[in-house]
Amino acid sequence: MQTDAQSLSPSTKWQWNKGKIVIESPERPAGQKDVLQLALPKMKTVRVGFVGLGMRGPSAVADFALIPGVEIVALCDYEHDRAERQNATLRKHGLPPAAVYSGEKGYEDLCRRNDIDLVYIATDWDHHAIVAKCALENGKNVADEVPSAMNLEECWELVNLAEQKQLNCMILENCCYDWFEMRTLNMAQHGVFGEIIRAQGAYIHNLDEFWDYYWKNPNGSDPEQLGWRLKYNRENRGDIYATHGLGPVAQALDIHRGDRMALLVAMDTKSVHGKELVEAKTGKPCNDFRNGDHTTTLIRTANQKVIELQHDVMNPQPYNRLYQLTGSRGFANKYPIEGYALDSKQLTASGVQPQVDNLSTHSFMPEAERKALEEKYEHPILKKFGKLAKEVGGHGGMDFIMTARLVYCLQNGLPLDMDVYDLAEWCAIAELSALSMDNDCAPVTFPDFTRGLWNKYQGYRHAYASPEEEAAAEAIAQAFTKASKEATAKLKLWQLYDNVQNAKSDAMKQKAQTALNKAIAKARAIVAKQL
Ligand SMILES: NC(=O)c1ccc[n+]([C@@H]2O[C@H](COP(=O)([O-])OP(=O)(O)OC[C@H]3O[C@@H](n4cnc5c(N)ncnc54)[C@H](O)[C@@H]3O)[C@@H](O)[C@H]2O)c1
Repeated sequence: MQTDAQSLSPSTKWQWNKGKIVIESPERPAGQKDVLQLALPKMKTVRVGFVGLGMRGPSAVADFALIPGVEIVALCDYEHDRAERQNATLRKHGLPPAAVYSGEKGYEDLCRRNDIDLVYIATDWDHHAIVAKCALENGKNVADEVPSAMNLEECWELVNLAEQKQLNCMILENCCYDWFEMRTLNMAQHGVFGEIIRAQGAYIHNLDEFWDYYWKNPNGSDPEQLGWRLKYNRENRGDIYATHGLGPVAQALDIHRGDRMALLVAMDTKSVHGKELVEAKTGKPCNDFRNGDHTTTLIRTANQKVIELQHDVMNPQPYNRLYQLTGSRGFANKYPIEGYALDSKQLTASGVQPQVDNLSTHSFMPEAERKALEEKYEHPILKKFGKLAKEVGGHGGMDFIMTARLVYCLQNGLPLDMDVYDLAEWCAIAELSALSMDNDCAPVTFPDFTRGLWNKYQGYRHAYASPEEEAAAEAIAQAFTKASKEATAKLKLWQLYDNVQNAKSDAMKQKAQTALNKAIAKARAIVAKQL
């Protein structure tokens, strides 16, 4: 067993008990409160700082730039130009320029600013939890790309910090916001499938076209310059990217809202494709590729449901997140064919009159019935944000819906759709599955990140403001963005920004930067006065 793999944290305590690996859950320190259903005071504006602007981060900046009541305050990437380039998006929308940070520790200065509410993290996996911890320690809410924590130690650190600081630490699981998943969740919550007893989820995505483009850390930690993602797969066994498959089914199964994942067993194939990728890149034999090409994990919940997860980023296969729910009265399946199976009785009981007599669960229901079912259970969140999301795009629009919901919840003082316990439970699969496979596929118990509170709330639900509150928050948000754009134009912030970029000497740059900072402060004061 390789002990320096990041997915195996040094502090995890476990012991054998009746053939199982039992993971210990540390007690909640005295005086520390949970953050279940955490609702912070309404934020009139959401002030955001971004860390990590490679392939993924810029689309998040573009999404936030479209949402009223958002102020993009700071941009940070290890590489200065990647951060600076995002200012073009703000300029395009007439928003004020954002401050730029760079270098390995630039995020520390960003997190120390006193004008940021939310730190949005889209770095490589090594930096997710490091940046998130820094943000929480500095009193900022966190939204962290997947997987937000790479091992149990990082999961516990984020849970503890979120509890100590009473802040949000959300996992950015965009697959929870895809159309089929949202509608199906709505159906599940209305009992369309009866009791859901089994679910499947996966990340099956051949990454051959992407490996070369992942960032290559220049600090010597990636001597063969494999890029962070291939290097991570080489060094770490386990389902290290479980959350796209797990997130949506965990919501449908009410995980830590009445049920909890109790135990898993994992099994992987040998590495063939991964090993070949490294050999092709280095020209040397590779005998230490830890991540099996295809990993399968079976999870059993406290209420005796089963989840099957698969992970394969290596082999040539059609993209597949599986997403399948088996219930006592019906069935839903997304890949490769989207469909539902309900018999006539259950469809009628769900409020949809079948057009044909012979509707049975032996096959997917015909198009007309399916359409009627989907229309009846269209998710309210899709009704609100779906049209704009489709226009904006980004994984078919689900990225925008996630961002719009995050801002909506913060502006309306509501609990976020995914809390730090979701983050920890979903990300824990990496270490737990590695532990299972490193021990002959032994059963491994889950820690309880809620520390006894997984049954306190019954049923996963999205939070909504009343129509009046929602309208009031939207009016403030729109007024803010309008005023901010007007002040940006009036004070010629982009001209001042250009002066900084075009300055011929350090001294001139400094002078131009001071002028820009002053003007930004003045613009903010003007906006504040108007609201
Ligand atoms: N949810 C999704 O659908 C989805 C899709 C793609 C990627 N992702 C996730 O987004 C993250 C980024 O992926 P990517 O494809 O953009 O990778 P990438 O390699 O293109 O970008 C990573 C960026 O992080 C920056 N970075 C590294 N260390 C940093 C530090 N200390 N401070 C500031 N910046 C730092 C790098 O300079 C690089 O620009 C990954 O976690 C990935 O899993 C999620």
